[in-house]
Amino acid sequence: MPLFYQHNINQDTKLGIWHIEEPESFFLEKVPLKRDVSHPSKRLQHLAGRYLLSYLFPDFPLEEIQIADTRQPFLATEKYHFSISHCGKYAAAIVSGNSRVGVDIERITSRIETVAGKFLTDEEAHYFNEEYAQFLEQWGLRGRVHQEFLTLIWSAKEAIFKWYGRGELDFKRHMQLEGNITMDGDSVKLPFIFEKSKKIHLGIEGRIFDEQALTLAWILT
Ligand SMILES: CC(C)(COP(=O)(O)OP(=O)(O)OC[C@H]1O[C@@H](n2cnc3c(N)ncnc32)[C@H](O)[C@@H]1OP(=O)(O)O)[C@@H](O)C(=O)NCCC(=O)NCCS
Repeated sequence: MPLFYQHNINQDTKLGIWHIEEPESFFLEKVPLKRDVSHPSKRLQHLAGRYLLSYLFPDFPLEEIQIADTRQPFLATEKYHFSISHCGKYAAAIVSGNSRVGVDIERITSRIETVAGKFLTDEEAHYFNEEYAQFLEQWGLRGRVHQEFLTLIWSAKEAIFKWYGRGELDFKRHMQLEGNITMDGDSVKLPFIFEKSKKIHLGIEGRIFDEQALTLAWILT
């Protein structure tokens, strides 16, 4: 089934992940392609992300989407706030009638361990490589789980970047994990502090899809 995951966060806010199995023509029946996206798989991802917006809220005015200088897509009327992410054969979207939102999905691979230094602060690196790693070790969960949680942090920071929407953010200086990561069933809670002009506490929520090797992170304020 193409809709792989849906979470109705509240009355006004929905989140979904689409597993792209359809050809372009399926999405083009609903989605106006306004931008020239030349690479076929990128075009398919782009179309699926927009399709999902209207799947979640059928009255979403796709033809009114504009692109800011920062590349953030938006609706000038603010009828909905929304955010899109894609990764391989998956597209994710979060749409809200009244809250600012951000979403990101990422594929879990071992490469995350080589690039972690680019986005983890010294404190976050200590937490992951020392405290958290020891905790995982105790349960025999080092390795794969370490990669899953590192990827989730990366996803969380990308979701914050999209939520902010104005670009010019440093992933170490402007956003930091400010407490322990906790689990509530399948949901992972990641408390962040965001500081550009003023301090804002952000509760990011995440999820790890083991079988699909995907992380999902989202934020709404
Ligand atoms: C913009 C960015 C967040 C996109 O993330 P990505 O993982 O490459 O790609 P995703 O598929 O998750 O997201 C792409 C979607 O994000 C949205 N997007 C692009 N720029 C955006 C912005 N400035 N604000 C909000 N959303 C944005 C678009 O909807 C885009 O999809 P579309 O073109 O089909 O509409 C990313 O490219 C980026 O610039 N990140 C910041 C990089 C950085 O500063 N890194 C430093 C630490 S190492």
